Amino acid sequence: MTTLLYIDASARTDRSLSRGLSKDFKTQWDAIHPEDQSIHRDVGNNPPSCISEDWIAAAFTAKASRTAEQNALLAPSDEYIAEVEKADIIVLSTPMYNYGMPAALKAWFDLIVRVDKTFTFDLARGDFPLEPIMSGKTLLLFTAYGEFGFAQGGVREKMNHLVPHIRTVSKYLGVSDLHSIEIEYQEFGDQRHQASIQQAHSSIPQLIEKLIEQRRKV
Ligand SMILES: Cc1cc2nc3c(=O)[nH]c(=O)nc-3n(C[C@H](O)[C@H](O)[C@H](O)COP(=O)(O)O)c2cc1C
Repeated sequence: MTTLLYIDASARTDRSLSRGLSKDFKTQWDAIHPEDQSIHRDVGNNPPSCISEDWIAAAFTAKASRTAEQNALLAPSDEYIAEVEKADIIVLSTPMYNYGMPAALKAWFDLIVRVDKTFTFDLARGDFPLEPIMSGKTLLLFTAYGEFGFAQGGVREKMNHLVPHIRTVSKYLGVSDLHSIEIEYQEFGDQRHQASIQQAHSSIPQLIEKLIEQRRKV
């Protein structure tokens, strides 16, 4: 049995293109794997709190020495991390906002990447002292853009601070395998946008086949 964690980051709900991709994937996946478990975390509609000075102090206080207030402050982070720990596949749907990720999603990542929970820190490792604790997870990234050309070799590749950022930080979620599908041209609303929507949705069955093939090999 596989556990899938669905994270949705768009502030839009029914009209969200990125959520639409995630929903389409879930419908098709569940039809083939009804026994699998899924967890849903909607950070777009219920944004996590930003970290604070007190939160950082709590995270860097040894577990045994934390006060009740500090434990309470870390409780949402504990809950989000527990969800990631359970997941074999993380399905993350997110729009591009101002060339990067929505603030709600960044707040979620800030609560997940936590010393001695999701990474260890050891200066004996030299210039790269951080090591992730989790491993072996797959990340499916469903993104939506108003403009276009953000992929490798595209006219806006250098303006894409969404996918490269998620790719870098997902290491601390234990992600070793990332697949990405995107919808572009939303702000143009033209034929290119329709073609992009169609292309994105029609690549979901192929993605599912690839994941099934990978699962067979494990
Ligand atoms: C606050 C805000 C900022 C945006 N910034 C960008 C941007 O920097 N680049 C871009 O291509 N599109 C941008 N867009 C357009 C969205 O990426 C596009 O509408 C996308 O479809 C939103 O995802 P959703 O359909 O899942 O809600 C922005 C939209 C909003 C609401």
